[in-house]
Amino acid sequence: MEVTDKKIIDGKRISEEILEEVKREVKEKGIKPGIALILVGNDPASEIYVRNKGKTCEALGFHSVIEKREDNCSEEELLALIEKYNNDKKIHGILVQLPLPKHINEMKVIEAVNYKKDVDGFHPINAGKLMIGEKCFVPCTPAGIMELIKRYNIETAGKNVVVIGRSNIVGKPIGNLLLQKDKNANSTVTFCHSYTKDIASHTRNADIIIAAIGKALFLKADMIKEGCAIIDVGINKIEDLTKKSGQRTVGDVDFVNCYPKVSMITPVPKGVGPMTIAMLMKNTLDSATKKVYN
Ligand SMILES: NC(=O)c1ccc[n+]([C@@H]2O[C@H](COP(=O)([O-])OP(=O)(O)OC[C@H]3O[C@@H](n4cnc5c(N)ncnc54)[C@H](OP(=O)(O)O)[C@@H]3O)[C@@H](O)[C@H]2O)c1
Repeated sequence: MEVTDKKIIDGKRISEEILEEVKREVKEKGIKPGIALILVGNDPASEIYVRNKGKTCEALGFHSVIEKREDNCSEEELLALIEKYNNDKKIHGILVQLPLPKHINEMKVIEAVNYKKDVDGFHPINAGKLMIGEKCFVPCTPAGIMELIKRYNIETAGKNVVVIGRSNIVGKPIGNLLLQKDKNANSTVTFCHSYTKDIASHTRNADIIIAAIGKALFLKADMIKEGCAIIDVGINKIEDLTKKSGQRTVGDVDFVNCYPKVSMITPVPKGVGPMTIAMLMKNTLDSATKKVYN
């Protein structure tokens, strides 16, 4: 199989473009967007995510604070920490790295963040505004997917979009964004999930498929139609004994076999993944410049 750049949606390149734009705006406006990154517990993946976010902030000239708490941090302590940054004028974005330890009520924590500093877009006020098409902070992964669609001029109006997955952070928001009466949306959206009967009967009719399931290589070539575009959000590890680590990262899409049929596709890695952090930086900048809320 020959993989040509023409069909590849290069999230790495677009994310670098966005980070460059953010850096330029920060410099031109002479501002210092500030973000508080809050991490509870010792989940190694979460530690890496937070560290990378901190490094990206530094590279862009942002002000960032990392607040790390042990696994036994109480809900009250965490809520008090959030309140501190809600009232800190140097901080424009607050990110609480999920998942949280089981004894902490995640929704209570999400709702404690001032929605005007909710650069993750998880607060119910932002989720509600997104649903009714009002200006708001859009969750970073769906925001990144919309940027890829826009910057690659993927036609969405009147197209059949199938979203597989209905999580609050990916599936539901991306489906709702594409449903909006907006020039980069206006799609006919179908949501599939674990209760959907015969997913292939939906995906075979799709012009655009967004796979956000978390199941390695789930979407097969016989489930898609010729010429469709695919956005693969999944990040899964599978065994690969040719690698030193014994494993490699794949998406929710059987890329190798779907590739010959698609018009465009995001690879994994270097597809949607790098867009998420870029959009977090963009949301924080937009918060600092009051582009979303006054
Ligand atoms: N690239 C990035 O930056 C980024 C960001 C976020 C997530 N991700 C990745 O994207 C994937 C999805 O993440 P998420 O947070 O949305 O996951 P999630 O909260 O676990 O949701 C998964 C969704 O997929 C559905 N599902 C699971 N198995 C299914 C099946 N066999 N058939 C049909 N639907 C099925 C579930 O249905 P039910 O609702 O019925 O259970 C659920 O709605 C994961 O691999 C995650 O690592 C990547």
